[in-house]
Amino acid sequence: MAKVVAHDPSMILKPGCFEGLNQQIVNEMHASLQYLAIASYFDSEGLPDLAAHFNRQSNEEREHALKFVKYLHDAGARPVFKAIPEVRNDFNSATDAVQCALDGELKVTNQINDLVGLAHKNNDYMTHTFLQWFVTEQLEEVSTVSTLLQVIKHAGPTLLLVEDYVRRMPTEAGEDA
Ligand code: FEO
Repeated sequence: MAKVVAHDPSMILKPGCFEGLNQQIVNEMHASLQYLAIASYFDSEGLPDLAAHFNRQSNEEREHALKFVKYLHDAGARPVFKAIPEVRNDFNSATDAVQCALDGELKVTNQINDLVGLAHKNNDYMTHTFLQWFVTEQLEEVSTVSTLLQVIKHAGPTLLLVEDYVRRMPTEAGEDA
């Protein structure tokens, strides 16, 4: 495993936090790639609104990764980019694909919670404050994908109703999709 080094020994990050923040870049890129695979599944199933929704989610996850990159640079550290673990590409159904999305969001929520705990343990209040945006974001993302999963289960085989639901979902920018 690549050793992570900071380019500035006087960096203001507490040493214990650096590895965790660096790893979260990979975790967010993994989430981005997983969403792309889910979007591709819906595209192949002829469900373009669900595909567009998950493509937007994929872009958001990449933006999350970039927030960690910027934070490390701002704090005087240089990130080390590592390989992204393989994602799931095959899904049995729309329910299976969205369950995969929910499982991923729950996993990222645990990762963020662990980082918050790490920052607290190391008295790194700067990192603790930075992470609060992600704590709030995870609540919103888990809630959104949980509701979508419920809608899909209610819709059963009539997935065109879900397409209509997704088309009317608000986007991150607060606009209609
Ligand atoms: Fe950036 Fe949805 O985790």
